[in-house]
Amino acid sequence: MGRAERVVLAYSGGVDTTVCIPYLKHEFGVKEVITLAADLGQGEDLTPIREKALKAGASESLVVDATEALIEHYALPSIQANALYENRYPLSTALARPLIAKLLVEAAAQCGADAVAHGCTGKGNDQVRFDVSIAALNPNLKVLAPAREWGMSREEAISYGEQFGLSFPVKKSSPYSIDFNLLGRSIEAGPLENPWNEPLEEVYALTRAIADTPDEPEYVEIGFVEGAPTHLNGEAIAATTLIAQLNDMAGRHGVGRIDMIENRLVGIKSREIYEAPALLVLIAAHRDLESLTLTADVTQYKRGIEETYSRLVYNGLWYSPLKSALDAFIRQTQERVTGTVRVKLYKGNAQIVGRQSDSALYTEALATYGADDQFDHRAAEGFIYVWGLPTRVWSERLRQE
Ligand code: ARG
Repeated sequence: MGRAERVVLAYSGGVDTTVCIPYLKHEFGVKEVITLAADLGQGEDLTPIREKALKAGASESLVVDATEALIEHYALPSIQANALYENRYPLSTALARPLIAKLLVEAAAQCGADAVAHGCTGKGNDQVRFDVSIAALNPNLKVLAPAREWGMSREEAISYGEQFGLSFPVKKSSPYSIDFNLLGRSIEAGPLENPWNEPLEEVYALTRAIADTPDEPEYVEIGFVEGAPTHLNGEAIAATTLIAQLNDMAGRHGVGRIDMIENRLVGIKSREIYEAPALLVLIAAHRDLESLTLTADVTQYKRGIEETYSRLVYNGLWYSPLKSALDAFIRQTQERVTGTVRVKLYKGNAQIVGRQSDSALYTEALATYGADDQFDHRAAEGFIYVWGLPTRVWSERLRQE
């Protein structure tokens, strides 16, 4: 890998990315490390992180507020795609990666850097998402991934940092690896590595245990305009606020926990715990509104698109021609997905209990079993004659043999 002079490093303030700073300078011969920390609505003050980077030898420490971008440009399209990887994981971590990659590429251009860097290891999906996204946005930029090469354990990484005067507070370090943004939390490692172990309550931060949830259900009405959530209980609010409020509401009722064994792109199966209350409720509500407003063939054809979309986003191909083509399909389908969905939050469940839309294709006069039924029952006979014809021909042929 060619060496670089000036590097923009994706920085979280954790041990690994902090050790990356002296490591890039001393082992990779980088002259200047500029760190970039993205505020993705994780609700923590990033000022101490800025100072930490400078203390560790960064020449500049950038903090970028990217929460709105995360929601508008990454989460909303994904909600419209009803995107769930392997039918369960709403991609809360995966969606943030192409955004961070974009911030790195933009910062590199502004700072005149010839490379960008990240602290991902060689075993995860995130390295793939960063590297491929960066290459898509600027194929001339070098990507340095020190943690992929250094082969240090956590303890070794800490001792390495100490050589350069870094100290890591001796707070009892968590056995878990956690990624966190407004869309949710991903928790892995420690006791979770044994898939038979029930997650301890300590892994959760956004959702309550069922035993601690309210004994009364709570109803929430989510309004959508062209497939984007815009209203909560009748009030128009910004998407970021809507997601924050819905995280609180749903989380309080124990909604949003996922415990799954998933297939990583690099071939490893891993056990991950997710908390994504708002995102899961929004996808369920959005999908329900689609079933009210889209024709049967569009709804059913879109399922296949959604499955491809989810896999592609998980696998790091956010910036890709297939993704753009799927986006165009999905955008076109959302034109009439406008209406309101009523959700009942209770004891870990988010149950859709009502939906309405001015564009509803559901027609009571056709569906009713009451007296004002307008469906022509006799027309069914001719339809079934034609529909069943191939089956009848096939069956008669078999009988003749
Ligand atoms: N498995 C998830 C993904 O690939 C989350 C990865 C980050 N998880 C973590 N606990 N650090 O999107």
